[in-house]
Amino acid sequence: MTGNYNDAYAAFKQEPCEFWLAQSKRIPWFKTPTSAYQQDENGRYHWFAGGELNTCYLALDQHIENGFADETALIYDSPVTNTKQSFSYFELHQKVARFAGVLADLGVEKGDRVVIYMPMIPEAVIGMLACARLGAIHSVVFGGFAAHELAVRIDDAKPKVILSASCGIEIDRVIPYKPMLDEAIELATHQVTNTVILQREQALAPMHSPRDLDWYLVEKEANPVAPTPVRAEDPLYILYTSGTTGTPKGVVRENGGHAVAMHYSMETVYGMKPGEVFWAASDIGWVVGHSYIVYAPLIYRCATVLYEGKPIRTPDASAFWRIVEEHKVSALFTAPTAFRAIKKEDPEANGFKEYDTSSLKRLFLAGERLDPPTYHWLQEKTGLPVLDHWWQTETGWAIACNPIGIESLPTKVGSATVATPGFDVQILDMDGNQCAPNESGAVVIKLPLPPGCLPTIWQNDARYAEGYLSQYEGYFLTGDGGYLDEDGYLFIMGRTDDVINVAGHRLSTGEMEEIVAAHPAVAECAVFGVNDSLKGQVPMAMIVLKDGEAISSSEIEQEIIGTIRGKIGAIACLKHILCVERLPKTRSGKILRKNLRQLVDGETLNIPSTIDDPSIFEEIKTLLT
Ligand code: COA
Ligand code: AMP
Repeated sequence: MTGNYNDAYAAFKQEPCEFWLAQSKRIPWFKTPTSAYQQDENGRYHWFAGGELNTCYLALDQHIENGFADETALIYDSPVTNTKQSFSYFELHQKVARFAGVLADLGVEKGDRVVIYMPMIPEAVIGMLACARLGAIHSVVFGGFAAHELAVRIDDAKPKVILSASCGIEIDRVIPYKPMLDEAIELATHQVTNTVILQREQALAPMHSPRDLDWYLVEKEANPVAPTPVRAEDPLYILYTSGTTGTPKGVVRENGGHAVAMHYSMETVYGMKPGEVFWAASDIGWVVGHSYIVYAPLIYRCATVLYEGKPIRTPDASAFWRIVEEHKVSALFTAPTAFRAIKKEDPEANGFKEYDTSSLKRLFLAGERLDPPTYHWLQEKTGLPVLDHWWQTETGWAIACNPIGIESLPTKVGSATVATPGFDVQILDMDGNQCAPNESGAVVIKLPLPPGCLPTIWQNDARYAEGYLSQYEGYFLTGDGGYLDEDGYLFIMGRTDDVINVAGHRLSTGEMEEIVAAHPAVAECAVFGVNDSLKGQVPMAMIVLKDGEAISSSEIEQEIIGTIRGKIGAIACLKHILCVERLPKTRSGKILRKNLRQLVDGETLNIPSTIDDPSIFEEIKTLLT
């Protein structure tokens, strides 16, 4: 598909239903959809009504039927265990069909939920695809989350079965997963019937019979099963993401729209050809991992790389380039923070020169703002097109990109380029009026959202309506602020809510604030994101202690750091805590978190006229220096 972006976008705007129905014809359905979308009784949009399909069939079986059984599907590269393993479509299919048999034997049926809490190993992908094969709904929980977070997700998703492994490996540290899983099951109200545990040799998990089952043992006993047809609107997965409160939101992804969007994006956004190697250096626990480690490459018949390692220290900053050479990667997608880490350790990009990276055509960046220094460094050192694109867990694929599969547009540094065909992106002011070019406002998407985006929040339609639809009627609120320039280029300037991005990981400062505020010595507090040269943002807490606390403020700080780590997980990275006498507030008592962030980041303070006492900023400034 090549041509002109403006024409492609106009085709979508004029006839969105025709546009998407044409795309839907590019995947094999068991039953062809009868309409583009339908609205349910709550007004929510569901794509490709009447259609029946199976996402696992699309990812595996269809390629075997079409004669590509011997092509590579999955490449597992794990420097932390010194393992490299490759699975053809045939081999992956065998494993998945059999593991689907395991789940079926455990009573998992269409519509049942299965939680997956696993490191970056092939069995995690096998587990996801096996759920899809049965029409069961998986919910993958990132391995860096602690027991409390896992428990919250178990209680919301109410899984029949949990899949896990004995441990994850963080560079040279073995992180036992099973004690965290046991604790989460203990904390959760909902009780699972079974867990299936993959024992890794680095740490054997203690098993509790009859609940816990050994992955290899049950796999041996099972028989392969065929894909179950599901309706287009049946959920494929739930992926929890941070919102403004401590309760994560279960983003629902439906089978039909997802499959069409994944296929379309591989061509339009990433310019891939079937048979090429795609590598998303992310984690299956995040949306990037769901969409671009697992589903999109496989549906599109690319080989996908599953990398159990880091950009640095496994063993060094040339790790990414080694993978590119060894596996002949065509496109590499990661978060800017990964390249900032590489740049810090290898500023001259010697690793890039050391390896044969000639297979690599493009670099894709997303997950957080691509800062200009990182962009320029990458472009200068690699000479490759460096393509920023903007999206979020809610959409599952790029809202704005450089649509190279249609037309390669000139880059403007700091911009994610233009709205992807399918997304009607607009900028609205506080009153819901369209902003002029270059004027900042709330970035919204006109409804209906395209295929692949969330239709609602799992079992919580009211939260979906309240969080995303209530502010501007007829529009989806992305939570990001930004502007469109005179050429229609989109500049994302950051979140307008309590969500921050730490090393490409989405976290809620609202949740952290709830935990900090619960410390018995804390009278009040504010948690907000501040700039960090490596991770983009890190959280910072300012706390006001209750009078007459017996323990020292540094002890309290250490306790809070420990509690956040214990409750959310190490990835929360709350390491900066400052004890202050008082916090700046409006006269109505609202804490001015945005101004605190500006103060710490050394920006101009836009203090509202409703502030109670502006001298507090001077007090805090003294403490910061
Ligand atoms: N399981 C268990 N613990 C995990 C984990 C996992 N899957 N992932 C991270 N952690 C832990 C880390 O070990 C670290 O623990 P520590 O504080 O005890 O050292 C903590 O969480 C913070 O991890 P991280 O934020 O990754 O920081 P880091 O300093 O270890 O590494 C980077 C920095 C930049 C190298 C790393 O964050 C990175 O590779 N980022 C890319 C992120 C990415 O791909 N995001 C996906 C979106 S596209
Ligand atoms: P997640 O849901 O984890 O993918 O995080 C989504 C959020 O990350 C978005 O709402 C943005 O705030 C941020 N984000 C993702 N990609 C970009 C990008 N290319 N530029 C700026 N911010 C981004």
